[in-house]
Amino acid sequence: MNEPLSRRGVAAAGGGEPVSSPGAWAARSSEPDSSPCAPIPVRGIPASGGEAAQGGALSPACVSVLSVRGLRKAFGGNLAVDGVDFDVHAGEMLALIGPNGAGKSTTFNMVGGQLPASGGSVRFRGSELLGLSARRIARLGVGRTFQIAAVFASMTVCQNVQMALLAARRRVYGFWRPARPQQHAQALELLQQVGMRDQAERSCSELAYGDVKRVELAMALAGDPALLLMDEPAAGMAPRERKALFELIRGLARARGMAVLFTEHSMDVVFDYADRVIVLARGRLIAQGGVSEIRAHPEVRRVYFGSGASFEAAGAEPFAENEVGS
Ligand SMILES: Nc1ncnc2c1ncn2[C@@H]1O[C@H](COP(=O)(O)OP(=O)(O)O)[C@@H](O)[C@H]1O
Ligand SMILES: [Mg+2]
Repeated sequence: MNEPLSRRGVAAAGGGEPVSSPGAWAARSSEPDSSPCAPIPVRGIPASGGEAAQGGALSPACVSVLSVRGLRKAFGGNLAVDGVDFDVHAGEMLALIGPNGAGKSTTFNMVGGQLPASGGSVRFRGSELLGLSARRIARLGVGRTFQIAAVFASMTVCQNVQMALLAARRRVYGFWRPARPQQHAQALELLQQVGMRDQAERSCSELAYGDVKRVELAMALAGDPALLLMDEPAAGMAPRERKALFELIRGLARARGMAVLFTEHSMDVVFDYADRVIVLARGRLIAQGGVSEIRAHPEVRRVYFGSGASFEAAGAEPFAENEVGS
């Protein structure tokens, strides 16, 4: 029987080892790239620029892949997401941060179709997503990874990716069929992109946790997403592994022109890898902008630390110290 491999299961099977060095991908860069786009002004929050985008006008290369407007979710009397507006652009790494309970996962789940929204609009490449099933949204080109990797332990790395390719092509996702040469070749190509080509025939149960996350990423790429949603993709990983994973994700975003919306616990990682940051607190967007702006933003500091403290003074790990942020 094929059981999804839980985070704990993987750790027991060999987690904690460093990940292998990232594989080849076209646009890999160790530089924190500047944002490909200028910020979009949204209701209530001035679009004061990202670092690369002072001056206001949008670059012609800047294409909005996702437009979220007035998004709301009420759980009974609790307004978990309260009128949120933001855009994600092609090739952009957009971080969604905020204290624990701010509404980040709820936002992800509404965009991905796992949760129905209470109101608002989510347009993906011009089409409304609200009201569509998660499966339909995935097939339109929205990829997703989960905090706990959903990989089948008893299958090989390559078989997992082949399953994802089958699912992306609307084939029955019920039982494993013998590999077809074409899918096998495509799976290997995806594994090449995430630096796992040389481990294609290993069982997933033998992998270090960081490598499982790479397999999961290759599976998310099987549907050739224009937008990738990653809710804490590096949860449970050591700092070095986290950075290696985000280096890989950013390279893929740039090479494919793929937009990435992510949450991440470590402010170090957010500040190193995000092109722009949007900040939620109690369901509301309280700030958006480039990394240096968000670092210095008075309300963001207040929400995280109370008044006065800075991210630097807190060692860029405010969530851990204040028990917020997952
Ligand atoms: N399924 C649910 N039922 C009721 N309340 C929920 C549910 N999911 C989340 N919430 C509430 O919504 C708020 C936002 O939660 P969440 O989106 O998980 O925050 P975050 O991911 O930012 O930590 C919290 O108050 C949480 O308790
Ligand atoms: Mg969450």
